[in-house]
Amino acid sequence: MAFLSDSLSRVKPSPTIAVTTKASELKAAGRDVIGLGAGEPDFDTPQNIKDAGIQAIADGKTKYTAVDGIPELKAAICDKFKRDNGLEYTPAQVTVGSGGKHVIYNALSATLNPGDEVVIPAPYWVSYPDMVLLAGGEPVIAEATIETGFKLTPGALEAAITPKTKWLIFNSPSNPTGAAYSASELKGLTDVLMRYPHVWILTDDIYEHLVFDNFVFATPAQVEPELYDRTLTMNGVSKAYSMTGWRIGYAAGPEHLIAAMRKVQSQSTSNPCSISQWAAIEALEGTQSFIRPNQALFKNRRDLVVKGLNACPGIECPVPEGAFYVYPSIAGCIGKTSAGGVEITDDEIFATALLEEEGVAVVFGAAFGLSPHFRVSYATSDEALTEACGRIKRFCEGLD
Ligand SMILES: Cc1ncc(COP(=O)(O)O)c(C=O)c1O
Repeated sequence: MAFLSDSLSRVKPSPTIAVTTKASELKAAGRDVIGLGAGEPDFDTPQNIKDAGIQAIADGKTKYTAVDGIPELKAAICDKFKRDNGLEYTPAQVTVGSGGKHVIYNALSATLNPGDEVVIPAPYWVSYPDMVLLAGGEPVIAEATIETGFKLTPGALEAAITPKTKWLIFNSPSNPTGAAYSASELKGLTDVLMRYPHVWILTDDIYEHLVFDNFVFATPAQVEPELYDRTLTMNGVSKAYSMTGWRIGYAAGPEHLIAAMRKVQSQSTSNPCSISQWAAIEALEGTQSFIRPNQALFKNRRDLVVKGLNACPGIECPVPEGAFYVYPSIAGCIGKTSAGGVEITDDEIFATALLEEEGVAVVFGAAFGLSPHFRVSYATSDEALTEACGRIKRFCEGLD
């Protein structure tokens, strides 16, 4: 009898973590490595938010709380959805978990039965397909390409839907491409979903506040109010407030779904950290004054990286609307041989050779379901980005 569960045997370890580990090993061996793999902002949690956490400790708010969030945080989340997205939710429609990832996992494990399909647009965040597999479902990948700005077309969405489809997982701005859907682009997809009433929408809006060039963020239940009753709108404080370590994510949706997710959470992790919940209230209700300057900072870095990468022979880098990633194509490098003698047959080999020959750590596109590409996270200093682009250029110029 096998010791490990069948569902676990279908899951692969995170490739983004594998890259980070390899880069750390090289660094520990004394190599000069620039890491462009991180999925978190490089700035510190704002002081007012830290202070709220410290105050919560001083006030003894250090005990178990309601399983899926304290009423004060749920009220702040309802206010946030109304203020930013024009969506009305009651506290009973809100759930809080230990990070956005946890909330998504709760939703999938509360709803998926063997054979249920989940449509995932590619390029996708690495965790979606594996979370679906762990929860016993079947990921169905619907590909978007560089030609459509990495955005799923209504036709590709429709082609992926079957009678077995339970969810569409939607993510804008996207990890790994940075692509964000305007309200009218989104409407093209919601029009398709209106024709398939058995399909639910899990929208991952975690990069909502990281958009540039006056881009206006939109979310499915706002664009098509008739989808409200079958949409789970997920968000969190990790990226916008640089609170990745605090582990607070949340979602809002129909009460019966939220109750089912609460049941999963009550028998697994129980409440998210009490101190972090109080800090998250300050994040959502306190000053939002750093969001705009952060957008400006990330926009400048995006422009620096896009320009730097487009100067590399064989690389084509589109300009994304948001998040802190770019997803260049390396189609022009495939079939060539690096200065170190490695034949570049795919994006994984490209990324490994780049790390070994030039000390730049990026994540290969196959990990996100679309090749030949790689992902750069530009949540690092201008100096590191400039140096990394210089090294990538030298690597590409050395290809023969
Ligand atoms: C698209 C996307 N969704 C969700 C998450 C998870 O966020 P959290 O840290 O809140 O679990 C991430 C983190 O990398 C992400 O990129």
